[in-house]
Amino acid sequence: MTGSFDFTPLFPPGLPAGAVKWTGAPRYNFTGGNNDADQVPVEGLIAAADTVLRREGRTLATYGLASGPQGYRPLRQFLAAKLKRDARMSCSLDDILIVSGSLQALDLVNGALLAKGDTVIIEEETYQGALTRLARLGVNAVGIPLDRDGMRMDMLAVQLANLKRRDIRPKYIYTIPTVQNPTGTIMPEGRRMELLKLSEEYDVPIFEDDCYADLTWEGLRPPALHAMSKTGGVIHIGSFSKSIAPALRVGYVVAGWQVLSRLLALKTDAGSGALEQMVLAEFCAPRFSEHIPKLRHSLRGKLEVLMETLNEQFGTAAEFDTPKGGIFLWVRLPDSVDTLKLFQSALAAGVAINPGPEWSTNGAHSKGRMRLCFANPSKEEIRQGITVLAQVCRATFGVPSRIANRE
Ligand SMILES: Cc1ncc(COP(=O)(O)O)c(C=O)c1O
Repeated sequence: MTGSFDFTPLFPPGLPAGAVKWTGAPRYNFTGGNNDADQVPVEGLIAAADTVLRREGRTLATYGLASGPQGYRPLRQFLAAKLKRDARMSCSLDDILIVSGSLQALDLVNGALLAKGDTVIIEEETYQGALTRLARLGVNAVGIPLDRDGMRMDMLAVQLANLKRRDIRPKYIYTIPTVQNPTGTIMPEGRRMELLKLSEEYDVPIFEDDCYADLTWEGLRPPALHAMSKTGGVIHIGSFSKSIAPALRVGYVVAGWQVLSRLLALKTDAGSGALEQMVLAEFCAPRFSEHIPKLRHSLRGKLEVLMETLNEQFGTAAEFDTPKGGIFLWVRLPDSVDTLKLFQSALAAGVAINPGPEWSTNGAHSKGRMRLCFANPSKEEIRQGITVLAQVCRATFGVPSRIANRE
């Protein structure tokens, strides 16, 4: 587009910096929360779209279909039954709000609860999308270290006590307890009980982000914090991005009316895309349970290739725990590696990684760490991409000192 009109002086102060223009996907893409292209149930979605549109297409004539502003009723029905079966949650259709991806859920919950200068508690390593939102809102995010069972309750207790001494009541404790992003841990039931106890003792609600809960390797998961809470002080969010496909942009919030009524008032898009909701409900009700094990199996296979290739190419320089599910591997490289710099040189060679500091409240701790998403690249691309990454890392930082056990 051409023209000389200058909009710049019209942008109000505080507007986020402009987006960087997309110039195409990198050749080897280990970033983002993308999914496995071969596992998108394309035929099932086509059949579902055909059936549901023929049956109910005319309801598209009204905003909110015939279901009202909280989202397509059959999708909420599917979710209520699924959350009961898998996460032991008891919720009715009225407790569920369908949103445009769980990112919108984060925005709505933050919009309802947070003001500049507030404090929240989060996991020290956590989802970048949560961190950037909190930074933009001017909210103080206190990070709690993790171990192999997720957020450490001893450290949480210390922080809650510290904050209370300073008269600070955090607005929420944000956690990804079931396949944590980026570390891939699952918080066991016992620790969930401790977390709920602390939340009650200090009167701080829990914000439970459960978008990876369908992707545990064994197909089993502890009950959701929402299910275990006796006070109702848990807001639960989830998504179809990781179980079906992220481009659909369908997520959900489960909470009581006191909260949902506020989120609905903030949700100013007159409802999330109806076609996606209709197709998902039509597909998921009969087919979700058979789709998920196939997806898990494929993801697990890719993870094996990633771990094998890292061992081969980086040797002992790359350390990691096998994640309990999901689509990410959180890798620790020696302290001499700065993954923010590695990100730049790897990108120039066609390999995209997520540098650790962007997924952490503790820059020093995460400097040598990186997050690799293994869901989208093929096994061959994983092998090739990690091989290039090791070459770049060696050329830039001298790590690994030997490549592929060959020299
Ligand atoms: C922990 C977590 N929450 C929320 C999201 C947002 O997902 P979506 O908006 O696609 O549902 C992601 C995406 O990667 C995530 O990892």
